[in-house]
Amino acid sequence: MEFEHRPVLLAPTVDALLQADFGGKGASRSGQADDAQAEARAHARVQRGVFVDGTFGRGGHSSELLSRLGPEARLVVFDKDPQAIAVATELAARDRRVTVVHDGFATMREALAGLGIEHIDGVMLDLGVSSPQLDDAGRGFSFMREGPLDMRMDTTRGPTVADWLADASVDEMREVIADYGEERFAFQVAKAIAARRATRPLRTTLELAECVASAVRTREKGQHPATRTFQALRIYINRELEELARALASALELLAPGGRLAVISFHSLEDRMVKQCIAAAAKPAVAHARLPLRESELPQPLVRSLGRVLASDDEIAGNARSRSAVLRVAERTDTPLDADAATFVPAMRVPGESPAAKRGAKRRPR
Ligand SMILES: C[S@@+](CC[C@H](N)C(=O)[O-])C[C@H]1O[C@@H](n2cnc3c(N)ncnc32)[C@H](O)[C@@H]1O
Repeated sequence: MEFEHRPVLLAPTVDALLQADFGGKGASRSGQADDAQAEARAHARVQRGVFVDGTFGRGGHSSELLSRLGPEARLVVFDKDPQAIAVATELAARDRRVTVVHDGFATMREALAGLGIEHIDGVMLDLGVSSPQLDDAGRGFSFMREGPLDMRMDTTRGPTVADWLADASVDEMREVIADYGEERFAFQVAKAIAARRATRPLRTTLELAECVASAVRTREKGQHPATRTFQALRIYINRELEELARALASALELLAPGGRLAVISFHSLEDRMVKQCIAAAAKPAVAHARLPLRESELPQPLVRSLGRVLASDDEIAGNARSRSAVLRVAERTDTPLDADAATFVPAMRVPGESPAAKRGAKRRPR
């Protein structure tokens, strides 16, 4: 069966990569010379820019971008999902500007180096899962549909959620569910899973959903009790935040002056990381605030923020998924990067890796 994906914040995301004046006053340009330079860069980007779509999905954003790029431009697309990659490969067969990489976007820098690409003009990330992944019960992402407890974006490698739940320690499960699901009843859920698997292994989505529901004591309005636990397990098994952290650091390294970063997040953990990374790279001087440096010696901004865009009421009415979407956009400045790009990404504690959680832990998704 073919499942459809309706792209979220489609026009603003592509505008963010291409339009000279995107974000208006967000840019720190001041005079006509700066405006002319920005226009010239935008023109060159459209004609022969190199772009990355880190989350191809069904290619909604890629297709819109390609429709606005010149014949000499290039687009490298990534996805972990073999079904998305099959669609991307068909597109690449029709459009010689497209190159397909079946891997996580965290590998962007290495993958592009392998293609002989050192600098890019724009990168977009539309995070999380696609509608086809959610709608296909066989992928195990939905607590509403009976299916195998899988949840891997890349079905060709790594443990499934069922594999991981079979032998994770209670502490490890509690940490993952608390940190990535922000679930108040994380400990109770972890204990319920451990009790249940002692009698029969958890194999399906509905078995897990029922088990979680038995442990979550107060329901949030309009939300299934398993929502937070499913989100946590999905983020963990796919290493979603670690992937994002690496991709943000790579973007700082790869973007050419004037190049744009556009990231669509769907929950606060992702959005916080994107927001803090842009803020840190936009104001690197903050880290040196206590040092007795002269104004001219302070580190200059690596990016300027071009703001944040939310879905309009019309878009939300037509596509409920867009309700929680936040697009953040930044533009790379001319300042050379002379620090480790990873220092601009907020430090992240990886749940399941604390000494307590590690006790009894056997497997970590790769
Ligand atoms: C929200 S969808 C993107 C939809 C796409 N923009 C479109 O218009 O069709 C997210 C896609 O990104 C993929 N994905 C999520 N995280 C990824 C990662 N770290 N590396 C590569 N692909 C990832 C998922 O497999 C999924 O296909």
